[in-house]
Amino acid sequence: MLVRVQGVLTPDEVARCRAVLDGAGWIDGKATAGEVAALAKNNLQVPEGSAESRELGDVILRALGRNPVFNAAALPLRVLPPLFNRYDVGMSFAAHVDGAVRAIPGAGMRLRADVSTTLFLTDPADYDGGELVIEDSYGAHAVKLPAGDMIVYPTTSLHRVEPITRGSRWSSFFWTQSMVKDDGQRALLYDMDLAIIETRRSLPDDSRAVVSLTNCYHNLLRRWAEL
Ligand code: NI
Repeated sequence: MLVRVQGVLTPDEVARCRAVLDGAGWIDGKATAGEVAALAKNNLQVPEGSAESRELGDVILRALGRNPVFNAAALPLRVLPPLFNRYDVGMSFAAHVDGAVRAIPGAGMRLRADVSTTLFLTDPADYDGGELVIEDSYGAHAVKLPAGDMIVYPTTSLHRVEPITRGSRWSSFFWTQSMVKDDGQRALLYDMDLAIIETRRSLPDDSRAVVSLTNCYHNLLRRWAEL
């Protein structure tokens, strides 16, 4: 399931991110890639744990906390600190898979990556190429969103970033361990959540239909959630 989340960051927050990233010390993105992914990866990243990365990571985590769409789609249990990358002209990231298990920095814990997120920080008018292409059972989906919007997709998907032919594409990306690890189950819960919201537009919240559907939602979540 691919879910676009609009307006995650306000224009002021996007501007703040860009200002801080402008002064950040970018390094070769191979630093955080596994052996296989490093062959495919040609981009720049802000070092993990740097002051810039921590400050902006907090801005993004706060924004996620107030975002009902992200919470409904990802059903987050834990979110890794957001990272930041950049693709200048000629840079790309060929088809690869993200690692299944990642260390949580400083916490002595690991996280199973179920859900990947890319938050766009550059206006699409400012660069050419650079689409995030995500493969699933329905084919390949090219994603390029306005600054402040993000795409949420299953970490099980092969994905790539097309070469940049003009400008520079900046974004944040991060992994989430979901309470529900299976993408198909998460998709069902998300569809049901949307159906309940739609039903509540035409029926009162205490109607039997709304109460029963909500009960089904919670009973499915109870059955599938791992905490
Ligand atoms: Ni990736």
